[in-house]
Amino acid sequence: MHMHKFEKIWLTFGIGCLVVFLSVVGVSAFYLGNKPASCLTTINSEKVDQTKPFDKPGLHKAEGKEWDYELVFVASTFSYNPAQVKVPLGAKVKVIATTKDVIHGFEMAGTNINMMLEPGYVSEYTTTFDKAGEYLVVCNEYCGTGHHLMSAKIEVVK
Ligand code: CUA
Repeated sequence: MHMHKFEKIWLTFGIGCLVVFLSVVGVSAFYLGNKPASCLTTINSEKVDQTKPFDKPGLHKAEGKEWDYELVFVASTFSYNPAQVKVPLGAKVKVIATTKDVIHGFEMAGTNINMMLEPGYVSEYTTTFDKAGEYLVVCNEYCGTGHHLMSAKIEVVK
C-alpha cells in the first residue's frame, strides 16, 4: 500500500497526540490521584433532612480539618437553604451541597464555584473566601417553573 509522505506524517502526529493525551489523563488519575470534584459521595435524596450534615444547613466551624468552616446547602424546588449566610473574610470553607428533588445548579456568580447538584449525590468544593462582598448563588440548571427565582446570598464579611 502506498501512502503519501504527508499522510504518514499526519497519521504519526495524530497517534502521537493520542498517546500524549492518554498518558496525561492516566498519570493524573492513577499517579496523582485526581478525581472528579464530587468524588461520588452518595446520599438518600428522600432522607436529606435527616442525614448529616444536611440536617443542619448553614455555616459551621470545622474542628481538626484542613478547612476552617463547612458551608452546608440544601437545594429544592425553588430555593436554597440557607437563603442567606455570612462567611468571615479569609476563611477556608468547604461548600457541601445536595438536592432533595431534581437537578439544580449551584453557581456563585463572579467566582469559579459552579457545581451541579444531582439527587442522590453530594457536591463539594473547598475554597478560600478572600474578597469581601455579597455573592449571588444562582441555579443554572433548568429545574421547573420557578427556576429563575432560585437564588441565595453569601456575604463575605470582615
Ligand atoms: Cu433550581 Cu433551576
